[in-house]
Amino acid sequence: MHVHLRQDDMLRNVTPFTARQFVGAVCMPNTLPPVDSVERYDRYCAEIRAAAEPYAFEPYVPLFFHEGLTREVLAPARERLFGVKLYPAGVTTNSEAGVSELAKIEPVLDVMQDLDLPLLVHGETNGYSHDREREFVGVYDHIAKTFPKLRITMEHISTVEAAAFLDRHENVFATVTLHHLLYTMDDLLGGMWNPFMFCKPIIKSPKDRAALRDLVLSGHPKVMFGSDSAPHTEVAKRTEGAAGCFTAPVLLPCLAQFFEEHDALDRLQAFVSDHAQRIYRVTPPKREVLLEEATWTVPPRYGSIVPVNAGQVLRWRVAG
Ligand code: NCD
Ligand code: ZN
Repeated sequence: MHVHLRQDDMLRNVTPFTARQFVGAVCMPNTLPPVDSVERYDRYCAEIRAAAEPYAFEPYVPLFFHEGLTREVLAPARERLFGVKLYPAGVTTNSEAGVSELAKIEPVLDVMQDLDLPLLVHGETNGYSHDREREFVGVYDHIAKTFPKLRITMEHISTVEAAAFLDRHENVFATVTLHHLLYTMDDLLGGMWNPFMFCKPIIKSPKDRAALRDLVLSGHPKVMFGSDSAPHTEVAKRTEGAAGCFTAPVLLPCLAQFFEEHDALDRLQAFVSDHAQRIYRVTPPKREVLLEEATWTVPPRYGSIVPVNAGQVLRWRVAG
């Protein structure tokens, strides 16, 4: 329920990894320019569908939040829209066009609540890197209280505080990534610096990871899998320090291994699919994906992109 498919050649190269394992995905709108109008939305959905062929794949693309998303813009297209994604300005890749004054977002939220359009949020401030998400929890609290009927998704939660906040309001949900479930700061910089583990929000402490694991492994009904797979070229990762982990090729195999190691394989299906279908009220095409126990080695790179877990041996794979 959170993936970056990008544009043009990158879109065509990375989409099959997602479409092979999933029947649909929330495809984020932080393209250049962002998907910030109904026209761009229609075009981007069509491009994703074409890139996913021959798989039947449903893109759920939230519009990029801006103050121009008025009732006049949103209401006529409501039936085919999915939601709206809010990025505070400058907090992550391609978010320069995001919101700089949170005080001004309320008229749009009011319309969204009225139209029952979900709000997806990159919940970080511009503060110290490890505190950005903790500092943003107050904003979630304010929005959830002010708009009690608005469904709000805290994207890619990474902290004890966000995990604890989840049950404070009925209308607040969360996605959790693979990398925040599996790794900690030590995997990023405890040994040799690993630029392919660098993402926003930054991977945090063992305590934070434990809180996420508890949520996910308990089968919490408000928690959805959102990989935040975010491809950048190897050059951009190594020389520009681009934030984002490319996990798309390894998602289901790694999740299966993680759930199996924690004796929770029976909860995998709900985490990757059922919870999201209920929370977002979506009905993607039906498809059965078969996971088999068979070892394979993750390639060092896919074209110009280095995946997370490059070179590692995984124990599960997607069959067929
Ligand atoms: C994402 C990207 O590259 O688009 N980067 C990231 O570090 N996760 C954007 C985002 O979801 O923050
Ligand atoms: Zn993302």
